[in-house]
Amino acid sequence: MDEVKVALYGVGAVGSLIAKSLLEKKGVKIVGAIDAAKEKVGKDLGEVLGLNRKIGITISSDVDVVLSKTKPDIAIHATSSYLKDTYPQIVSIVKHGVNVISTCEELSYPYYSEPKIAKELDRLAKKHDVTVLGTGINPGFLMDTLVITLTAACQKIEKIEAARVMDAATRRLPFQRKIGAGLTVEEFKQKIEKREITGHVGLEQSIAMIAAALAWKLDEIRIDPVEPVIAKEPAESEFIKVDAGKVAGLRQTARGIRKGKEVIVLDFQAYIGAKEEYDAITITGVPTIKQRIQPCVHGDAGTVAIIVNSIPKVLKASAGLLTMKDLPVPSAVTEDMRKYI
Ligand SMILES: NC(=O)c1ccc[n+]([C@@H]2O[C@H](COP(=O)([O-])OP(=O)(O)OC[C@H]3O[C@@H](n4cnc5c(N)ncnc54)[C@H](OP(=O)(O)O)[C@@H]3O)[C@@H](O)[C@H]2O)c1
Repeated sequence: MDEVKVALYGVGAVGSLIAKSLLEKKGVKIVGAIDAAKEKVGKDLGEVLGLNRKIGITISSDVDVVLSKTKPDIAIHATSSYLKDTYPQIVSIVKHGVNVISTCEELSYPYYSEPKIAKELDRLAKKHDVTVLGTGINPGFLMDTLVITLTAACQKIEKIEAARVMDAATRRLPFQRKIGAGLTVEEFKQKIEKREITGHVGLEQSIAMIAAALAWKLDEIRIDPVEPVIAKEPAESEFIKVDAGKVAGLRQTARGIRKGKEVIVLDFQAYIGAKEEYDAITITGVPTIKQRIQPCVHGDAGTVAIIVNSIPKVLKASAGLLTMKDLPVPSAVTEDMRKYI
């Protein structure tokens, strides 16, 4: 079998990490790269990735030209969190008969919040005989797929709680800015009002995916307002100093309500100076299951892994818009990728 041919759509922070990971893997090759950023278009991918060598792939802003020339098996799409932005981009890939894995958070389970878009994407994917998947570390794994997998050992379930606490000092500067680290509380509130800080995108999708897997009909999904986490003592990252009393990051919770009761509660916290970092899941039921991963899984490294590891599963999947709960048990691709197809 030939190597798996991959096109990159979005060579930003995450797309670049995915590209580097793919370049190290056997059985897979990057055949094209698309990005809108002026400073990247026309440059060799190796240069944009900061490698000391050319790869022979010029970044283009023209998706049609790249996909029709290179005929990839799959496109790895990493441009935006919101379906309103990514929907036309994903359609433009699907129309070329190319499978898609996207990091778009709202695509991880669009059937609840965007049922019309989900239905149309599913229809288009089936028409062009391709699979479309939205995934990542969160949403995509830690607060949904992993939770769903753990429920397999339960006979009865009363409540599901998942928490992710991460020290934002270990993450990239854009992420630290995105969570408001270093701002005053007033500045944080203003940025929330202007939607310059949006909180974590994906809690609603994770709850909807868990509920769908369990065939639980929810009354509603409540997303609490984003709250600032105020530093009790000074904290700092490589880039940002947070004085005591200033914002170190944010916290957001979301609740799935069923028959008037909270049955799924997700709690996301990211701030500079978090002393304990963890991913914790508690399923209260028969039996009760408590799982704790400490420190929490690194967001960027984990996202790259989930995306790359999903490639063979997506290539083997049936056509349509799928979510992580529809694919086989997730697992790592450590050998030549062709061995998994
Ligand atoms: N599910 C998860 O667990 C997970 C994990 C990590 C990241 N994500 C999401 O994945 C997305 C990408 O993350 P990132 O950190 O790599 O973002 P980023 O650094 O902003 O990179 C996005 C890249 O895509 C380009 N782009 C934007 N619109 C485009 C278009 N229409 N056509 C072609 N290229 C376009 C951007 O160019 P410009 O700079 O010119 O706009 C930029 O180069 C984000 O929404 C992020 O939240 C999800």
